[in-house]
Amino acid sequence: MAGMRILAIETSCDETAVAMLEISGDPLKPSIRVLGNTLLSQAKLHEAFGGVYPNLAKREHQKNLPPLLLATLKQAGEDLESPEIDFIAVTHGPGLEPALWTGITFAQELSEKWQKPIIPVNHMEGHIFSVLYRTETNPASEILNPKLTLPAIALLVSGGHTELVLIKALGEYEIIGRTKDDAVGEAYDKVARMLGLTYPGGPKISALAENARTKNREAAFKFPRPMIGSGNFDFSYSGLKTAVLYKLRSENRLDEEFKGEIARAFEDAAIDVLVKKTSAALRSNPHTETLIVAGGVSANKHLQSEISKLAGEFPELKILLPQKDLATDNAVMIGLAGFIEVSLHPEKLSTAYRGKALVADGNLSLDKEEKELA
Ligand code: KG4
Ligand code: ZN
Repeated sequence: MAGMRILAIETSCDETAVAMLEISGDPLKPSIRVLGNTLLSQAKLHEAFGGVYPNLAKREHQKNLPPLLLATLKQAGEDLESPEIDFIAVTHGPGLEPALWTGITFAQELSEKWQKPIIPVNHMEGHIFSVLYRTETNPASEILNPKLTLPAIALLVSGGHTELVLIKALGEYEIIGRTKDDAVGEAYDKVARMLGLTYPGGPKISALAENARTKNREAAFKFPRPMIGSGNFDFSYSGLKTAVLYKLRSENRLDEEFKGEIARAFEDAAIDVLVKKTSAALRSNPHTETLIVAGGVSANKHLQSEISKLAGEFPELKILLPQKDLATDNAVMIGLAGFIEVSLHPEKLSTAYRGKALVADGNLSLDKEEKELA
């Protein structure tokens, strides 16, 4: 497929992001040029709420989108009047609906102004394809500019999702396991809050845990591994969070050493379940060629090092993780998912479709058809 120039917009949660990309070639191994890439995180503003507050997110996205667009176009050497693009890719779900709407409305205005089509993108497909742009390595994934060979399994771990997805072919997904309650990133954020740490808690808990592991070889105590023996690929993180709460209450101390041990025991349990379920899913699907681990929590060092050990059990398996700046929410991954969507359905670029019928869908799922385009 010919090279595509894409303006991508992401506003599903607390990151406002705009990117401009030029992508061509095999959808499973595209050539990608990032022409412009900007992002503003609202994490600091949401700190006081201990999580993302939807109406504040909405207001901030509305405020941030115009300057981010201008900055992105400038990086790409384009102007606001008639930039050289083929289409606009925008996240339409899942996420916080007031936040999603800001991106969609903005995309619709640009679509009118530039007379360019809109390709709606599933945020989780964005996370999946985030692994395709790799210019840096990490311990779990040494492969640069990888080829995505299928079938694949994706472990998607973020603030809103914890799921195992079978990717049978491009655009063909089956969710084989998901969390029954909290997402793993959400559990990190809640435990962080119990320890008096601010949102987002993932990186802070992870740093405390790393520190505790270097100081003491053995963990001081262990937390239960929820659903580890459930015989399916589902997860549960609310019981683990409660176990942490009870431990804090029973010991009634919050010195640095104890915080470190809590963080370590929590992280050991949280990650152990992720890795064990992933390995079980790989055993049940022995033809799997690639394992993708993506979403904000994939930036976690302990998860990366435990996942890389799966290479021992599955020597033929290709393991792909996003580089650090693409693990958490960004617009590059949305542009990538838009490119793959258009490669599969070039008819979606037909000028008749301007995305007017496009709606935000907070619960959009990977194995549900995108109805508004049908
Ligand atoms: O994918 P993402 O940016 O947003 C959602 O789509 O949810 O993921 C954000 C989540 C937050 O819960 C954050 O605490 C977690 O990812 N996170 C981490 C790390 N970095 C971000 N969790 C554990 N370890 C990390 N290093
Ligand atoms: Zn995300």
